[in-house]
Amino acid sequence: MHLPLGDQRSGRFYGKDILSVSQFSRDDLEYVFGVAEAMRTMVRHVGTFDLLKGKILANLFYEPSTRTQSSFMAAMQRLGGSVIPISEVRYSSVSKGESLPDTVRTLECYADVIVLRHHEEGAAAQAAAAAKKPIINAGDGPGEHPTQALLDLFTIREELGTLDGLTVTMLGDLKFGRTVHSLSRLCSLFDVKLRFVSPPQLEMPEKVTKELTARGVAFSKHAKLEDVLAQTDVLYVTRVQKERFEDLALYESLKHAFVVTPAVMAKAKPKMALMHPLPRVGEIEPSVDDDPRAAYFRQMECGLYVRMALLAMVLGKA
Ligand code: NCD
Repeated sequence: MHLPLGDQRSGRFYGKDILSVSQFSRDDLEYVFGVAEAMRTMVRHVGTFDLLKGKILANLFYEPSTRTQSSFMAAMQRLGGSVIPISEVRYSSVSKGESLPDTVRTLECYADVIVLRHHEEGAAAQAAAAAKKPIINAGDGPGEHPTQALLDLFTIREELGTLDGLTVTMLGDLKFGRTVHSLSRLCSLFDVKLRFVSPPQLEMPEKVTKELTARGVAFSKHAKLEDVLAQTDVLYVTRVQKERFEDLALYESLKHAFVVTPAVMAKAKPKMALMHPLPRVGEIEPSVDDDPRAAYFRQMECGLYVRMALLAMVLGKA
């Protein structure tokens, strides 16, 4: 068994920030996924190993997170490294008014890599401009969530073998959902059809659709899931992002605009991947969980392997 792990300082991601999916070519994706597969093999065989022994990750989260935060933490620990967890910035000097650049300059004195989640779009790029060590964007407001899109794509590959030739339908809050902004951009590297289904108030931003048009991606917008469900190979459901609404009455009126139930699944293709970045707050009924097409829990596990791969790559070990 050949595992692409070990000293790779000439690696293309060594010392690099991961800010946006736009940094990745198709070739890069194959590389990341190859490393992620090796990580999975190692986790299944030995659980924890010393590839990043002595390395320290600072996990800096200005917004709530369960999966992203704990999977990065588990990823670092499974690779033998350790973590400075700052998940409650209220108890750090951020609450004294410290700026983001100063906070990351501080953490890079102690850590080798910083994972940042922040409520403002562009925050990861701002942090990267201030820091010399790699910054990994774990979500910048409604901007991007590149590591999620990478794990989403890895999951699609696991579930359906390839992305080429597929119809990927994104459902729900496409305006504020950063995961779909990243995923649709990443899909543009493949021969896919994108279908965007949302309430009119929550449509995919023009900034994203313009990029897709420029790259020649086939996409269309719809108000009803029924219009596209029968052709859909990947149904990617998102939560309506309550925290980004100024008008909570509007949120209340839209929060359950789309709910995936067994009745919806009955009209979908027999071979389909139902995905969700999670957390779900009512968009997919728990009664769907036992459907073999429900891939969201498997998707979550893929996050560990992809994040292990990314950490090893930016630290020159894959
Ligand atoms: C997503 C996020 O934070 O953007 N969560 C995650 O990282 N899995 C999706 C969401 O919060 O709705």
